[in-house]
Amino acid sequence: MSKTEEALKEAFAGESQANRKYLAFATKADQEGHPQAARLFRAAAEAETIHAHNHLRALKAIRSTGENIEEAVAGESHEFKSMYPAMITVAKTEGNKAAERSFHFANEVEKVHARLYQELLAGISKTGETYAYYVCPVCGYTAEKAAPGVCPVCGAKGKMFKKVE
Ligand code: FE2
Ligand code: FE2
Ligand code: FE2
Repeated sequence: MSKTEEALKEAFAGESQANRKYLAFATKADQEGHPQAARLFRAAAEAETIHAHNHLRALKAIRSTGENIEEAVAGESHEFKSMYPAMITVAKTEGNKAAERSFHFANEVEKVHARLYQELLAGISKTGETYAYYVCPVCGYTAEKAAPGVCPVCGAKGKMFKKVE
């Protein structure tokens, strides 16, 4: 990988993180009664997404949908097979309950993501049928077609789930 490509990867990671951080900061600003700060955080977050996507395109890292789904399966699988289990062990060893819970939620949901991507790739839904997904706002558990009554990962109520289409 060239130095420029390494720089693009680093810049993509930084802009991506800034995007999610600013959105979290915007929610906090709203809660604290600073609506203008919230707007600026959201506007900057929007711009950081544009920067991140520009970097990703310059890296030629966006390929066909089939290849992109394969990449997603590989990434999700790495996370639940090795990355999160190791992190959960570290958090347990150090007695960091908040980190353990956060890693556990992600670990369980990445398994679901890997399965959903694999099923899509295998053509299980090649009927042309399209449907919505429902995402748990607490742990990220992702369901097809309808929200469960209660989240199987964290126990949150299904009516809290966010519909994604
Ligand atoms: Fe930026
Ligand atoms: Fe995931
Ligand atoms: Fe959940």
